[in-house]
Amino acid sequence: MLPDKMQVVGIARGAKTDLEIREYFREVLGMKSKHHDHHIDEKVVDKLISRIHYLQGQLDDDKFYGVLKNYLENLSAQTHVNNRIFYLATYPNLYQGIFENLKKSKLDVEDKGFVRLIIEKPIGTDYASAKELNQLLLQYFDEKQIYRLDHYLGKETLQNILTFRFGNEFFEPVMNHEYVDHIQITAAEDLGVGLRGEYYDQVGAFRDVGQNHQLQMIAFTLMEAPDEFNNIEVTAQRIKILNALRPDPTKIVFGQYSGYLDEEKIRPDSKTDTFYALKTFVDTPRWQGVPIYVRAGKKLPEYVTEISIVFKKPVNKLFSHLDCGDQPNILTFRLFPNEGIVLQILTKKPGSSQMLDKDVMQFCYKPSDKIHNLPDPYQRLLTDAMQGDQTFFNDAEEVEAEWKFADAMLTKTTPPSTYTPGCWGPESAEKLIKDDGREWIVPSMEFCRI
Ligand code: BG6
Repeated sequence: MLPDKMQVVGIARGAKTDLEIREYFREVLGMKSKHHDHHIDEKVVDKLISRIHYLQGQLDDDKFYGVLKNYLENLSAQTHVNNRIFYLATYPNLYQGIFENLKKSKLDVEDKGFVRLIIEKPIGTDYASAKELNQLLLQYFDEKQIYRLDHYLGKETLQNILTFRFGNEFFEPVMNHEYVDHIQITAAEDLGVGLRGEYYDQVGAFRDVGQNHQLQMIAFTLMEAPDEFNNIEVTAQRIKILNALRPDPTKIVFGQYSGYLDEEKIRPDSKTDTFYALKTFVDTPRWQGVPIYVRAGKKLPEYVTEISIVFKKPVNKLFSHLDCGDQPNILTFRLFPNEGIVLQILTKKPGSSQMLDKDVMQFCYKPSDKIHNLPDPYQRLLTDAMQGDQTFFNDAEEVEAEWKFADAMLTKTTPPSTYTPGCWGPESAEKLIKDDGREWIVPSMEFCRI
């Protein structure tokens, strides 16, 4: 899918040759992980890595940008490619110097082709710093050039919620407070912080995945249909939901798995959350009074991400005296693993007596365990950035709306409760939902297990 002459130039401090960086890429591409078990076609790998280059340099050294400019101009002369995307996978404290130097060295000039900038989360550490960064960005670039990347927006399974809701007729009429009892969102990981302790200990679970990924899961699930499927309309609908979130700091609890303090590069007295659970509402006419329960954490029993819409119990009491006769329908968008959309329903058990069975109707992506046909979110988003499509990137107002909610929730500063690795977080998370007479849904590993 990549443009024929596209080249990638990696920049870092260490000394490396092109050959070394290419071998490193080959090694990484071949690694298997829970998310990356794609079939690797060696021919594609060869073609891709032959376009990878390495340039040693210090991003905080003004003189380096002259070297970079020469390097890029030489590449452009050889390839006749003049479009450029600067992808800043670097410490945010280097941003300003980078922007300044790109400007001074005229690497930001769009005279021969486009210049775009990708920056990854975290965009700031709170509302004020996110706003400051957005203002800084706009001093150097136009909003049309800025691609703020949250990889969740590139997930097929999240984007499919929009198709499912707005491309089909029959679910949308029941997606509202008249029919929906509540919504649950779970992003559980069975792993700990691993080698990312230094970063993670500064942010914690809520800032790491709550402020961004999980709020986007809410936005996709609850947004109104855009008039058209384009960046402006889709983003505007997401922002409306984010602005309508009602923060209540008394409804968030934090947890830390036992053993966290012994992980690498964690402060010995760290109060960082590795788990949180919260309850919120979205103040729109459609979702008035529908509670949304959200939880995420590390070292939980499974690696699973899903959104469940729990419908109200049947009004028709015909079967309520039977076993499971008053079970609600639950519509689950499973983002990972066994990706799909599952509707839990009741059916009649075959036989002469009237007995009920809980069953599912499901749409599953994976035709078999061996064939994984879902593109990686980065694959989608990097291609979008090359094609100039910002629909699944965050704009400035969107990130600020996320932080406004996050900041309000984070006024609760109670230290995290300890939980045992392998359980679903601390007791306080159970209490949060039980107080409302509800329970967390245990994600089923049977869905879409083909
Ligand atoms: C990242 C967080 O943004 O998202 C990680 O920094 C987290 O801590 C990851 O593990 C989760 O993403 P995914 O795609 O595995 O659900």
